[in-house]
This record gives sequence, structure tokens and C-alpha cells, in this order.
Amino acid sequence: MPQQVRGVVSRAKDAPVELVTINIPDPGPGEAVVAIAACGVCHTDLTYREGGINDEYPFLLGHEAAGIVEAVGEGVDTVAPGDFVVLNWRAVCGKCRACKRGRPWYCFDTHNAKQKMTLEDGTELTPALGIGAFADKTLVAAGQCTKVDSSADPAVVGLLGCGVMAGMGAAMNTGNVTRGDSVAVIGCGGVGDATIVGARLAGANRIIAIDRDPKKLDWATDLGATHTVDATSADVVEAVQALTGGFGADVVIDAVGRPETWKQAFYARDLAGTVVLVGVPTPDMTLDMPLVDFFSRGGSLKSSWYGDCLPERDFPMLVDLYQQGRLPLEKFVTERIGLGDVEKAFETMHQGEVLRSVVIL
Ligand SMILES: NC(=O)c1ccc[n+]([C@@H]2O[C@H](COP(=O)([O-])OP(=O)(O)OC[C@H]3O[C@@H](n4cnc5c(N)ncnc54)[C@H](O)[C@@H]3O)[C@@H](O)[C@H]2O)c1
Ligand SMILES: [Zn+2]
Ligand SMILES: [Zn+2]
Repeated sequence: MPQQVRGVVSRAKDAPVELVTINIPDPGPGEAVVAIAACGVCHTDLTYREGGINDEYPFLLGHEAAGIVEAVGEGVDTVAPGDFVVLNWRAVCGKCRACKRGRPWYCFDTHNAKQKMTLEDGTELTPALGIGAFADKTLVAAGQCTKVDSSADPAVVGLLGCGVMAGMGAAMNTGNVTRGDSVAVIGCGGVGDATIVGARLAGANRIIAIDRDPKKLDWATDLGATHTVDATSADVVEAVQALTGGFGADVVIDAVGRPETWKQAFYARDLAGTVVLVGVPTPDMTLDMPLVDFFSRGGSLKSSWYGDCLPERDFPMLVDLYQQGRLPLEKFVTERIGLGDVEKAFETMHQGEVLRSVVIL
């Protein structure tokens, strides 16, 4: 039977989000209905609300979630009712050119549910990143459900569904950080701090955290940064060079995504080092730099989408490491809030007071 549940919807650009009743269809072939246990508030939810992604309002927000599979549709054999899952926005198709070339993390045809969830009057909802998990339940493609250790705290492991995975993967997968590397991270919000955790796990022996907010630098240190640079008073490039024997870092990660921070990342790395852009620039931003610098400094300039992750490979592994006490993922959960508090959480996020607010259902 189709069900009615509560969901947080954004109806129009810049209007506050609303907690309303939504309709969830029964899962069709290849689909699953998931009862949400927890969902983190990510910057991208706010970007949807502000019209920064597209204008397909109304949006059903929320996408960093964990929950229990309630029902599955025809042909689903990867998950079953009762399974504890983290939701992902990269259910790879296995058939596109990227998948066939053995690079499924670039999949061009990732799966989402085919049926639509709707408002009570039948208006179709656009779920954020194909998930829509600020709701009691949501409808997704079964491939968006990744089974993990069911004893893990959903508020913590749900964050792997987006920002924490994006950050950790930017260091481990995109940046290929390895033992003995020096790593610098510009911007220590939830994503930048996750790159620090990823760099530490990968064996980096020098991790330099750079931010304009002293509180963020304290949190970064708590999560594994070995050195900090206050970007309001120091020259970032000189400071990174001074902390790396005059060379620059092997890998510099820009977790802000602005022309000035990317330039700092470019010049703060060692010759033939790697720059990873994980912060998302806006379409109006441009870069003006001497082309010869690209040539003469060599190395690798990369962007990281969702940390080049493969949810089926990475989520269970990271949950296991967290459960063993080897990953401090619980430190990303700054506050636990209710489904009616999402608008307030956007404000708290804007003021830089949290790494993550997590809605508990
Ligand atoms: N690539 C992906 O797949 C992916 C996934 C999720 C999020 N993101 C992006 O990652 C970025 C960071 O997300 P977040 O949740 O950590 O955001 P956030 O707002 O929590 O953190 C940004 C941090 O950067 C700092 N900062 C801002 N300007 C700075 C500057 N000039 N120099 C140094 N520090 C500066 C801020 O003080 C803050 O601590 C966003 O652009 C977000 O859209 C990318
Ligand atoms: Zn594919
Ligand atoms: Zn996100």
C-alpha cells in the first residue's frame, strides 16, 4: 500500500523549508523503501533550497542517511527487508562506457528510483541527489542501499553517504595519499576534516590544516592535523612551504573551491605534487594564471566527485574501521536534531558552528 509520511520539502527559491505530508509509492522493480533512522544536514541541501543545483522544485531534501530497508520491489536481491543500510548517490550501472572501462566511480548512468514520491496533491517531488531522506521513509533504487554492520550508530555512519566519504575519498582515492606523504588541506569544514581523517588513515605523516576560523583549526587538530595555519594572518603558500622543509606538500586539497584557494593549493604543493579540488566552485568563478607555471611545476591537477568512491566497496570497510575505534567519525556529529529543525540547522551551518547537524528519526 502507498503510504503517507512526513518529509522536509523546499517549495521555492529562498523560502524556508516546510515539514509536510508526502506520498511514498510501493517499491517497483529494482526499488526499495527505506525507513530513515538518521540524516545529516549537508551544504548541498541548502544549495538545492537556494536554487543553486536546478529549479526542479519542490525538492525533498536530505541525502546523508542510514536506515532500515522496509520493502523491496520485484527482482531486488542485493538487500532485503530488515537490512541496515547507508544510502548512496552512486548506484553504478555496470553498462556505460566508464563502467566497462573499469572506472565505475565515473559511471555516467547511476540508478535512482523510477517512480516519484509526491506531495499530498500529487505534485511530483525531486529528491535531493536522488535520495530525499529528511523523511520518515524514502523510495530509492535498491543499488542506492549499501548494507553495513547493523550495530553502528546511524547518525554517524549515515554521514558516509556524502560529505565524509567525499572528503576521505578525496585524500585516499583521488589524491592517492600514502605512507610518508605530506598533505595540506585548505578549508576545514566537514569535508576538509574528512580529508584529514582520510590522509591520516592512509599514512600521511604531516597533515597541515588551513582555515580562517580558529575553532575549525582546533577541530582539525582533534581529528588528526599535525600542524595548523590561520589563513587570516599567514601567507598560506609560504606557511605550507615552511612546514615542509621549503618544498611544499605532496598533496594539497582545496575543500573550499574558490579561485584564490585553488591557486594557494597549486603553489603550496611540491614540484610534481598533486592538487585535489573537492570544494565546489560556482559557475561565475574563473582562473587567470601563467600557463608556463602549469608546465614547469608538473604533477597532477584533479577534481574529486564523491571522493571517487564505490559505496559497495568503501562504506562497509569504513564502518568496520569506525566500529573498531580506528576512525573518529563520531566527532563529525556536532548536534542531533528533529525533523522540524532543518531550517534552523541551515542557519547554524551558515554561522560555521557545526561540522554536522544530524536529524534523528
Ligand atoms: N566534491 C564532492 O563530491 C563534494 C561533496 C560534498 C561537498 N562538497 C563541497 O565541499 C565544500 C566544503 O563543504 P563543507 O561541508 O566542508 O563546508 P563548510 O562550509 O562546513 O566548510 C568550509 C570551510 O572552509 C573555510 N574557509 C572558507 N573560505 C576559506 C579560505 N579562503 N581559506 C581557508 N578556509 C576557508 C571555512 O571557515 C569553513 O571551515 C563545499 O563546496 C561543498 O559543496 C563536495
Ligand atoms: Zn555506469
Ligand atoms: Zn552532501
